[in-house]
Amino acid sequence: MAEEFSFNPFDEETRRNPFPLFARARREQPIYPHPGLPITSVFRYADTQAILRDSQTWSNQFPPPPGIDPEKLPPPSMLGQDPPEHTRLRALVNQAFTPRIIRRLEPRMHEIANELLDRALEQREVDFIEAFTYPLPVIVIAEIIGIPAADREQFKMWSDAAVENLGNALFTPPPPERLAQLGKLLGDMGAYFTALADERRRQPRDDLLTGLVQAEVEGSRLSHDEMLRMLVLLLVAGNETTTTLIGNAALELLAHPDQLARLRAAPDLLPSAIEEVLRYASPVQLDPRCATRRVELHGQTIEPRHIVVNWLGSANHDEQVFPEPERFDIGRSENRHLAFGFGTHYCLGANLARLEAQVAVGALLARTRSFERVDAAALPIHPSIVFRAVTKLPLRLVAK
Ligand code: HEM
Repeated sequence: MAEEFSFNPFDEETRRNPFPLFARARREQPIYPHPGLPITSVFRYADTQAILRDSQTWSNQFPPPPGIDPEKLPPPSMLGQDPPEHTRLRALVNQAFTPRIIRRLEPRMHEIANELLDRALEQREVDFIEAFTYPLPVIVIAEIIGIPAADREQFKMWSDAAVENLGNALFTPPPPERLAQLGKLLGDMGAYFTALADERRRQPRDDLLTGLVQAEVEGSRLSHDEMLRMLVLLLVAGNETTTTLIGNAALELLAHPDQLARLRAAPDLLPSAIEEVLRYASPVQLDPRCATRRVELHGQTIEPRHIVVNWLGSANHDEQVFPEPERFDIGRSENRHLAFGFGTHYCLGANLARLEAQVAVGALLARTRSFERVDAAALPIHPSIVFRAVTKLPLRLVAK
């Protein structure tokens, strides 16, 4: 008899390669209630898509973890709001991220990518994350918001601290020290942004921060606290994720030399190669929702306030949607992956992240004859179960 299905999202071996377990789950156990927890994992594309589509039934507002006083938790950003509050907040930032506006940033992205590669190529052996995949997105988002890119070491400390155990708290309540740390973090970031916002009030510029300050000045559109939470969200949401996408692209191309050679021979495949990395090695692996009413799912009753964890990493390998899902194919057509989520909270930065990754990987290929792992040692993985990411990636780069 087949072994009973069980799933521990913290198990390191599973985290390094969850795909056989996900495949079995999609076949035999499309939803998995975690024993003793008010949480159910969801593995199929169709279920995840239907859940993310229906924000009335499936909320982005979560009950506090057991034993945690809700008063002690910071109020949520736009990501943790439902319509209509979410709609109002999202409308204020949407126009800063349209495809047209993002395309205007492309020359600057090339410049930054090339400057970073100049330095990395001089050193020949680098931690590719520290030297390239981290600084690029953080410099770009700092310039969009209008905050000094020179402060990026500080942003890194904040971002790392903010996402360190993101999502893990769904399954295990965070210790009180962690809550205190988060409170201090938000206080520090709030003070930083308040000072910069004061500057923009006196001297407006052509940047997102000025746009938000003006929305705040107009009163009901955006409160001061909402503005601060938006800035924190923008600074944090796009960094780890885009860093991860570029790093995963390098890793998957190294793991599939035929696809790397194909891309070098046909650089116009770059956009579809990035889509394939998003699908195959989705940087964000899970996207949770909270039931607002009693729902039947695959014969099981989900009670109000119960949490469903949609495994995007599994949905994006669903054989019902992607032929030969375990094949990494940079020319894959009809690649309707859910790596940026779906529906109401669809990633605000999707256009930006795609373009950054295209520019980054394009520059890496254009500037190197080859790149390779320095050794075959297992790479350290991100502490948060949300991410499919390594935190160090030593590479040897050979210039053209
Ligand atoms: C590869 C890179 C990225 C990935 C994989 C990614 C993934 C995601 C996902 C899955 C969601 C949906 C969350 C949900 O359904 O609750 C999301 C939302 C969001 N993302 Fe991204 N993201 C990336 C890059 C960025 C960038 C560069 C920004 C910078 C602006 C950004 C800003 C946001 C924001 C603000 C939201 C919340 C949107 C809302 O609540 O309406 N993301 N992202």
